[in-house]
Amino acid sequence: MPKDASGLLIPGVLAPPRPVRPDIARPEYVGKPAPASYAGTNIYSADEIEQIRHAGNISSRALDAIGDAIAPGMTTDEIDALAHEVVTSYGAYPSTLGYRGFPKSCCTSVNEVICHGIPDNTVLDEGDIVNVDITSYWHGFHGDMNRMFTVGQVSDVAQNLIDHTREALNRGIKAVAPGRQVNVIGRAIQSYAERLGYGVVRDFTGHGVGTHFHSGLIIPHYDSSPLYDDVMEPGMVFTIEPMLTLGTYEWSMWDDGWTVVTKDHALTAQFEHTVVVTERGADILTLTLPTL
Ligand code: MF3
Ligand code: CO
Ligand code: CO
Repeated sequence: MPKDASGLLIPGVLAPPRPVRPDIARPEYVGKPAPASYAGTNIYSADEIEQIRHAGNISSRALDAIGDAIAPGMTTDEIDALAHEVVTSYGAYPSTLGYRGFPKSCCTSVNEVICHGIPDNTVLDEGDIVNVDITSYWHGFHGDMNRMFTVGQVSDVAQNLIDHTREALNRGIKAVAPGRQVNVIGRAIQSYAERLGYGVVRDFTGHGVGTHFHSGLIIPHYDSSPLYDDVMEPGMVFTIEPMLTLGTYEWSMWDDGWTVVTKDHALTAQFEHTVVVTERGADILTLTLPTL
């Protein structure tokens, strides 16, 4: 996705597939059109949670490396190369590669792209904002997260959108507690975001994650009560990944079947963590830790 004359993104050219060392274990869905269906638990043991935390640590370290490298002139494919290199260097598999046919090792969503942008020959320009979403699959468990990055100097409006989206995720995480329905998370996010005048995307949600990339448990980012009434329990693992916009929350999809853009082409931002419900609240499983 390079840009057209008015600065909007257009589809670009993809580089050939990146190989993964044969000793790295693949998720079951790789090479298949869709993952096996899952109706199992979202509750994990203490040992399993440490495996998910390990996967999340790898994803976070890959994003740290991208943050160090990002600069005007870099392409989104170069971001993908770095994501692929860091994730596989720790013996993990980049979960998006071959997920329902997604061709790359991360998602790169620039400016008006809400989510699921495909890395290609798009050149990042001064003033762009870009979300990078990385999931690592390690010893049978996925750790899913994303972050925003700024390219050179960005506008105050763009910086505020990013800061407020990060805070919206924090509000959602703070709403997590055992005994509450998962719809309290979206209520906290929506009330914060709409007070500041942002749109909150509804049709892309957080999700259960662990042995499966998307378990079937849905975590909305808006107030969906009385729907989505799953009750949180200690050991339950899911993502929270709000997408805020400067305009409408309506979206359209490119013909590539992946890239989701705001219908009005307004800027949008997202942050994502994988969390586990604890006795007291939530513990974030996608942080860079001192050891790995
Ligand atoms: N990591 C994304 C999420 O947060 C999912 C990406 S699926 C892909 O759920 F196929 F687009 F890569
Ligand atoms: Co996710
Ligand atoms: Co993600």
